[in-house]
Amino acid sequence: MFEATPITTASKCDLYRELASQARSLLHGETNLVANAANFSALVFHALPDISWCGFYFAEGDGLVVGPFQGRPACVRIARGRGVCGAAAQLRQTQLVPDVAAFPGHIYCDGAARSEIVVPLVRADGTLLGVWDVDSHSLARFEEEDRLGMEALCAQFMHVQA
Ligand code: SME
Repeated sequence: MFEATPITTASKCDLYRELASQARSLLHGETNLVANAANFSALVFHALPDISWCGFYFAEGDGLVVGPFQGRPACVRIARGRGVCGAAAQLRQTQLVPDVAAFPGHIYCDGAARSEIVVPLVRADGTLLGVWDVDSHSLARFEEEDRLGMEALCAQFMHVQA
């Protein structure tokens, strides 16, 4: 049984470093996508303060379909290029959205959502696995350090999926 070490460090940078190390241990030796995605979501949801939802959308056909997540039930399918998730998938670039109301086409799965970060998950062969989406009820919850931290975490996740 995996026991997460309580995270007590103050700075975001340290927190993400510790979380990446916990993710490495948690995913080590397992390649099942659903198992790893479920555990990864649970790890992040319980470790990071002030997040309302985190989880995966996987590429399917032209669009995205929800995968393992933590939080309230979410929109199941997102059409190509739609919302913050669709933009991250299409542009293959992390989308850091301090105010979702100001993002044209943002999809409200939760009316209380205020800020969001979405990281594209690209396989070593260049194909898109999906995106990693994290939401908060606070405005501007995510900043540059979160982008770097989330991208490092996702790199850890993609490493075991390769
Ligand atoms: N807000 C996202 C949709 C997914 S939910 O936040 C879980 C978007 O605009 O793509």
